[in-house]
Amino acid sequence: MIHVVENEIDFQSIGVTIRFVMLVCHCKRVHCRDIRDAVRDGAETVDEVGERCGAGTGCGGCRTLVEKLVERERPLLRVLRTDVAA
Ligand code: FES
Repeated sequence: MIHVVENEIDFQSIGVTIRFVMLVCHCKRVHCRDIRDAVRDGAETVDEVGERCGAGTGCGGCRTLVEKLVERERPLLRVLRTDVAA
């Protein structure tokens, strides 16, 4: 059985887990985990992510993807913050 969880592929039957990091912004060499870290650091928009790690501040070709990653991370961050506050 192959199990895919975000940036991780788990081949349970043979006990192997492969983790990969996607390069999101080629201009600034920013990876998906850098975007995640920027959101966890408080960035709520593409521009705020760009201020923290540079993503989307070159040609702009990655801004749609950065926006989707921000949208994906924000709800997760709210859950994490709720757990910490509880
Ligand atoms: S690929 Fe991100 S700004 Fe150009």
